[in-house]
Amino acid sequence: MRLFIFLSFFFVYTFAIRPGPVIQASKGAVWPKPQQQEVSETYYLIRPHSFTFEAPVNIGCPSFLDDALTRYWTIIATSITSKLEETPEANFWELDDNFLGYLETLTITLLGECPNENILPELHDNENYTLTVDSEGAFLESETIWGVLRGLETFSQLIYAEQDTLMINTTKIVDFPRFPHRGFLLDTSRHFEPVRIILQMLDAMAYNKLNVFHWHITDDHSFPYKSRTYHELSDKGAYHPVSGVYEQSDVMKIIEYARVRGIRVIPEFDTPGHTRSWGVAHPELLTSCFTDNVANGELGPMDPTKDTTYDFINNLFTEIVDVFPDSYFHIGGDEVEFDCWKSNPDVSNFMKQNNFSTYEQLESYFIQHVVDILDNLSSKYLVWEEVFVNGVELPNSTVVHVWKDNGLSTLNNVIKAGKYGLYSSCWYLSVLHSGSDWDAFYKCEPGLLLHTEEEKKLLLGGEACMWGEYVNEFSVIPRVWPRASAVAERLWSDENVVDISDAQIRLEEHACRMNKRGIAAQPPNGPGMCF
Ligand SMILES: *[C@@H]1O[C@H](CO)[C@@H](O)[C@H](O)[C@H]1NC(C)=O
Ligand SMILES: *[C@@H]1O[C@H](CO)[C@@H](O)[C@H](O)[C@H]1NC(C)=O
Ligand SMILES: *[C@@H]1O[C@H](CO)[C@@H](O)[C@H](O)[C@H]1NC(C)=O
Ligand SMILES: *[C@@H]1O[C@H](CO)[C@@H](O)[C@H](O)[C@H]1NC(C)=O
Ligand SMILES: *[C@@H]1O[C@H](CO)[C@@H](O)[C@H](O)[C@H]1NC(C)=O
Repeated sequence: MRLFIFLSFFFVYTFAIRPGPVIQASKGAVWPKPQQQEVSETYYLIRPHSFTFEAPVNIGCPSFLDDALTRYWTIIATSITSKLEETPEANFWELDDNFLGYLETLTITLLGECPNENILPELHDNENYTLTVDSEGAFLESETIWGVLRGLETFSQLIYAEQDTLMINTTKIVDFPRFPHRGFLLDTSRHFEPVRIILQMLDAMAYNKLNVFHWHITDDHSFPYKSRTYHELSDKGAYHPVSGVYEQSDVMKIIEYARVRGIRVIPEFDTPGHTRSWGVAHPELLTSCFTDNVANGELGPMDPTKDTTYDFINNLFTEIVDVFPDSYFHIGGDEVEFDCWKSNPDVSNFMKQNNFSTYEQLESYFIQHVVDILDNLSSKYLVWEEVFVNGVELPNSTVVHVWKDNGLSTLNNVIKAGKYGLYSSCWYLSVLHSGSDWDAFYKCEPGLLLHTEEEKKLLLGGEACMWGEYVNEFSVIPRVWPRASAVAERLWSDENVVDISDAQIRLEEHACRMNKRGIAAQPPNGPGMCF
């Protein structure tokens, strides 16, 4: 009996290889999966060149909306290499009972106000929308311009190509995000990523309804941000003073490109560790390391004992808060190496004077100064989990970014202490497994230990993190997509959306959809081909 089971297992799984794609892609399925959707078999055909959006004009931001419509019109029109214009009429679809006609417009209704053209996306924006395609036509409604953007993305995904024509099924969608902070971190220090790559990332983020670009802009290896106040930081600390830097105009371009897609840009200037590149131009900011009480020429984390360190940070961060309009700033605070501090006699004396018995206390002293600087600049902040774990006094508005293993229990502690939590522990895109590995990201559930509504509200969401050690401009996009799409669905869709086989067929389609839109996403599921 046992042998029989063993043999049949072998037969089914080892010898029964079928030709064709491993996963047959869905058609017109939405990623991330909407909160509620009904689909039926009746459908319209769409002729891109006679299709229009019917949008309100008397709103506070007509150009903002107009730009979005132009982007989505282009996406729809180019989702088919159309022979349709040449033979527009009289194809066999019209004989089908389910054929409802040609869809000529999507009617958009903005129920609320759009204050002005410069509207900025913020934490807790309302992104809700409803989208209906029925025998009366197609209708998108939202309270906000952000909901309109998300709904346009959904509408564009409902349209699929079938035998040289574009189709859309009738459907009713009520949709809203599970979490308000759905982020993607990109490290541009370990490898410089050109502006054009960042803009493509932002496009792909919009295709996945991610809404926060966490720009880990500097680190030990390079300082690519060209500061107005201290340009020498990048003149000396970037990999290249011209081709390896983000000029002010580049930063503006990235922020604006993100804004019109409903994406916030949160800069991170990590301190007091991960700052070696700052010390190329300004070695006095960093701690001198000693061997046997003799300075050995090496530099460690920032020097927490000198007032001049904080003056410098104050000047630089005053600039950063002015350049980046988001009300949040990620101030880092992770992985501070204490060895250099331990070796330095001035640091030891300073600790004695201040009655510090641990290096965590010294680190807290440093972070407390940085926090005070940001409070003074009226900026809110995110910090890596170490800052919380080490007991720095933080206002309840602080967002604690959990990244280490065992993150669920740390997150639980953060939230029990009344702070906001953000989760990344299981979403490190730098962690690779051969073959298809998005399902591990997909299965990770950040809310497992949270029970009450108050606790759940304090979990703002999470971020997929792309650390830059082993990716450059040639490899970063396929490394991120569609793996980060798994995180995007976890953060947008209902927590009960966990069916891997349902996700597989939609992700197969979604990766191909991204390819069609020019994003070099890698195949998620094995053998197959995009159409
Ligand atoms: C969409 O309509 C087509 C044509 O009637 C049908 O074959 C298909 O199953 C429908 N899709 C869904 C998801 O119901
Ligand atoms: C969005 O929709 C959900 C579900 O209906 C609702 O709970 C939430 O309050 C809505 N958000 C806003 C800002 O109206
Ligand atoms: C350190 O402790 C000593 C003795 O308890 C006390 O006199 C001194 O004021 C303390 N210094 C600081 C900076 O707290
Ligand atoms: C707070 O900001 C003011 C200027 O806005 C500055 O003069 C002062 O030094 C700052 N204080 C701290 C603690 O950074
Ligand atoms: C922060 O949250 C904790 C836990 O909910 C609460 O006890 C504390 O009073 C809050 N602090 C402030 C300043 O609101």
